[in-house]
Amino acid sequence: PRTFYFTRHGQSEYNLLGKIGGDSGLTPAGLEYARRLAHFAKEEIARPRRKDTKKRSNSHDFFNDSDDDDDDEKDDDKLVEDNEERPCRLWTSTMRRTQETAQFISHKKFNHTFDNGESFDWSQFRPKPRRNLDELYAGTCDGMTYKEIQDTYPDEFARRQADKLSYRYPRGESYMDVTLRLEPLAQEMERIREPLLIVGHQGILRILYAYFMGLDRKEAPYVSIPLNNVIELTPHAYGCHEKRYCLMM
Ligand code: F6P
Repeated sequence: PRTFYFTRHGQSEYNLLGKIGGDSGLTPAGLEYARRLAHFAKEEIARPRRKDTKKRSNSHDFFNDSDDDDDDEKDDDKLVEDNEERPCRLWTSTMRRTQETAQFISHKKFNHTFDNGESFDWSQFRPKPRRNLDELYAGTCDGMTYKEIQDTYPDEFARRQADKLSYRYPRGESYMDVTLRLEPLAQEMERIREPLLIVGHQGILRILYAYFMGLDRKEAPYVSIPLNNVIELTPHAYGCHEKRYCLMM
């Protein structure tokens, strides 16, 4: 079936220091995750399997206040055996940490035959950096730890605690801002027929996850998107089936 795979980048230098934002590279642990992700992409995402022709509707009011839920799509549950290679898509943000995490997927030096010996055209899995997928920008607080933010800007910190969805960092963004910039991308995702792997960021993936799972916008900033895990979402008529893969502890 057509499926979305969401993962955060591997551990970054800033993750290790507890700093938010920035554009740091991966730690050795982050690089190990990148290697494991390439293996996962090969064996779980690109591996030939059954194809579905089912249509999907996710037009609840997550992005839009006005409820114009007029899709009533026919569920064509037909599954056909598909022994052909699956074209796959791979999106990253424009930030170093997501691009470094995707680096071994389609990398010439990586072993690109499947465990069962079959080969695959990996050039189609080339990462496409998307600016809309860049992490929620923390403005003046970019590069600080939460403790530093609390000590330096206690009022700002308290306001964010009180309303995480609407809170906008000084000279930065709010979850609502990011929701708006993700809307066209989510619409594009609705039309994609191939498996899509997104190597993204915590804030961004929370919003996409909440949208495709049919959660309320207010819940989005609290969704758990841990490092080192891949979240597989298989859309069906009224939401998604979810499976999580922990690739390393
Ligand atoms: O700490 C990693 C990170 O991706 C930051 O860059 C970002 O500001 C933060 O997570 C988003 O999470 P929260 O909204 O819970 O602070």
